[in-house]
Amino acid sequence: MPERGRFDLNHSGFGEGLAQNLALLHEFGTRDTSRIRGDGLLGVLDNGIVNAEELFIESPEHRGTVFGLFAQASTTPPCRCKVDLVTSEGYSRAMPSPTDAEIFTRWADTEAPLLPILHAFHDRDGFLREEAIHAISEALRTPIADLYGTVTFYHHFSQHAPGQSAPRVCTGPICKLKGADALLDSMRAEGATPMACSGRCDDPVPVLKGRQTLVACDGQMMPWHSPVPAPNPGGLEECVFASIRQPDRATYDGYRRTGGYLGLEKALATDPAAVRQTVSDSGLAGRGGAGFPTGRKWDAVAEDPREPKTIVCNADEGEPGCFKDRTLMDLDPHAVIEGMAIAAHATGATRGFIYLRYEYPETEQILERALEEARASDLLGSQTGFDLWVRRGGGAYICGEETSLLNSLEGKHPFPRNRPPFPVTHGYEDLPTVVNNVETLASVPPILSNGADWYRHLGTGKHAGTKVISLSGDVRRPGNYEVPLGLPLSELLHEWAGGVPDERVIQAVTMAGLSGGFLAREGLDVTLDEPSIRAQGSFLGAGGIMVLDDSRDMVAVAHSAMEFFAHESCGKCFPCRIGTARLTERLDSGGPSSVESWREEVDDIGSTMKATSACGLGMAAPLITESLARWFPDQVETHVNSTNS
Ligand SMILES: Cc1cc2nc3c(=O)[nH]c(=O)nc-3n(C[C@H](O)[C@H](O)[C@H](O)COP(=O)(O)O)c2cc1C
Ligand code: SF4
Repeated sequence: MPERGRFDLNHSGFGEGLAQNLALLHEFGTRDTSRIRGDGLLGVLDNGIVNAEELFIESPEHRGTVFGLFAQASTTPPCRCKVDLVTSEGYSRAMPSPTDAEIFTRWADTEAPLLPILHAFHDRDGFLREEAIHAISEALRTPIADLYGTVTFYHHFSQHAPGQSAPRVCTGPICKLKGADALLDSMRAEGATPMACSGRCDDPVPVLKGRQTLVACDGQMMPWHSPVPAPNPGGLEECVFASIRQPDRATYDGYRRTGGYLGLEKALATDPAAVRQTVSDSGLAGRGGAGFPTGRKWDAVAEDPREPKTIVCNADEGEPGCFKDRTLMDLDPHAVIEGMAIAAHATGATRGFIYLRYEYPETEQILERALEEARASDLLGSQTGFDLWVRRGGGAYICGEETSLLNSLEGKHPFPRNRPPFPVTHGYEDLPTVVNNVETLASVPPILSNGADWYRHLGTGKHAGTKVISLSGDVRRPGNYEVPLGLPLSELLHEWAGGVPDERVIQAVTMAGLSGGFLAREGLDVTLDEPSIRAQGSFLGAGGIMVLDDSRDMVAVAHSAMEFFAHESCGKCFPCRIGTARLTERLDSGGPSSVESWREEVDDIGSTMKATSACGLGMAAPLITESLARWFPDQVETHVNSTNS
């Protein structure tokens, strides 16, 4: 009998090989394979890496769609395929379920076990049963009240049927503009619920079901993949996207063929301090939002004598309007692994984690497969002195904040920590830890391969390097674009992305996803770098830009943005917890009856939040109302007058 949930297809070819593989599926619990459809399963036998999107099986025992068949094969026969099967109802229907004891044994003695254990129960049963929570509390010796507090903090850990098999529809700001509310209404009968921006603003409105992301296509819900980024029109040299369009880049063989792991080879032959110096000299700064110099961060970890040290890749990407990290991980997973391995060598770290947002289930499979390949090629694992694991979050924007992320990894309530001390000295398990964004880490291998000067000069003027911008909303060609820092924003919007469709003009763009608030048309004469955008009262941050044309109601957009922050405020400190709620109300109805008193109140709440909030969420959220009032006074006036008439 194949191993539960995972088995090997060992046979190649369309004839006998296929028959043998189908026999394996049969053995796996599928009685009638005659209705298997989709090229994926056939393709996997012939074409190397393939995602088999859907496997439709009709049998007396099981009727329905088995989601998430994910397969990989080497290109030369006899091919060896790894297959994970996940059903729409979790593991329980189509395959034998692991017992509680088997789940605990699987995760015993592993690093950061709470999240994977929660996911194992959630996947098995479709939701977290009360008995499961009690069993976990006992096994991990976590007080039941603490565990309940933690589990219920995450948005996606359901405690009731239909649980994770019920559809969740993205109602983020851009999806709302694309008709998400109507789609959600049309799926209410299936138990659909809304979810915050799920990081696919360049795609049709995504629906998460089980462990699969689906989009509506010709009246059917279809699986969806990260699109390959368009090349830039001027043929400008890129860093992280330079090889991402190469065929098979996501595989180990394809990655190596296109220069992958040369940066690591070079780093391993170099003194760690010299590696850190190269990263410092390149001018690379954090691409997750805060822009802290990467070399300095690594120095601080390396110089701390305490061990073990940890590298954490922040792949939480919860900021609405940002979807670059998913693209990088889906199309170039080995670049992230290589960046982490170089960081480990440079700092002396022996363990690592990729903390992945819940809403990227396909990415988890891609990363796991790449990690297996890297281990099989002796690039990771005990013999190299560094290993790393994926840990999937439970759905919470605040878990992207690095200290909240660390608490989440450690199985604690994911409130942000007070800083100082910072993670470089008191990170994972209170030990020295690098936390870097996906894009930051993926930039490191090309920097090592090509040198610090090469990277520095990719930027324009005095700005070092490149930045991936996630562009969405009212533009002809939404998507991810790797721009030289210092590129004029108007060039990106009009020449690269084709401008605004339907004869309309830009009314505003958001910056840093949502956290940077709005820039109106009058403020768009900026270049894509922090000093230029900060001079307009905003910031570039993680690089999400949503475009809003002149038909959009800016107060409604601001309301949905503030509602997001209110929903995601972790509640640890009251200025943010209460302030985001009050600001949401001011953008809805009621409140002061004159524009002057509306502005006074909104300014007062905003400045208190900025001065006293404990983390970046509470400090940034007021930029929404601040920039709305600054750039769109007429729309604010209409709003205040209409809500009081
Ligand atoms: C509310 C909030 C959410 C954040 N979300 C993310 C995120 O999803 N991904 C990320 O890399 N950084 C995020 N950050 C920034 C991280 O705290 C941290 O600065 C970053 O991961 C460091 O990596 P870098 O130096 O490579 O940018 C967030 C910060 C805040 C305040
Ligand atoms: S500012 Fe908001 S999100 Fe941050 S710790 Fe305080 S309550 Fe939590």
